Amino acid sequence: MAARAYAPYSGLQVGAAGLCEDGQVVTGCNVENASYGLTLCAECGLVSAMAAGGHKRLVAVSVVAGDGRLLSPCGRCRQVLMEHGGPELLLDAGEAKPPWRLGELLPGAFDSSELARATAKGAAEGGEQERAPGRRLTK
Ligand code: THU
Repeated sequence: MAARAYAPYSGLQVGAAGLCEDGQVVTGCNVENASYGLTLCAECGLVSAMAAGGHKRLVAVSVVAGDGRLLSPCGRCRQVLMEHGGPELLLDAGEAKPPWRLGELLPGAFDSSELARATAKGAAEGGEQERAPGRRLTK
């Protein structure tokens, strides 16, 4: 999968493979952009493939470079993976080591419970919050 990466700027080709709860395997590769900041990591492609394929949840993920070396997901991708696999998601750490649990790599992760709390608080305080000029969030 890493061989399909589009990485002309960094030269680091990355491939990600994930096992879904339904037993299906999904994959992704990094796709860079001349603007640099708009680069899509391999794990983002993987999560898109999971959703587009109708798969619900990830149970294990492996991320490798073009030369086969295992890579650790970047911080942003840990957060993205957390949403779709939770803290029990297993991350390949190589044959010699047991896999990491995502909860170990991203302890104390931000999650949707924080949003639920904010929404409940907003509702309790009157139900309407100013978000941006001309836009209101109503309960
Ligand atoms: N990259 C990934 O695809 N996943 C990661 O978790 C870390 C970084 C990519 C982004 C960029 O194309 C290249 O690796 C160098 O940062």
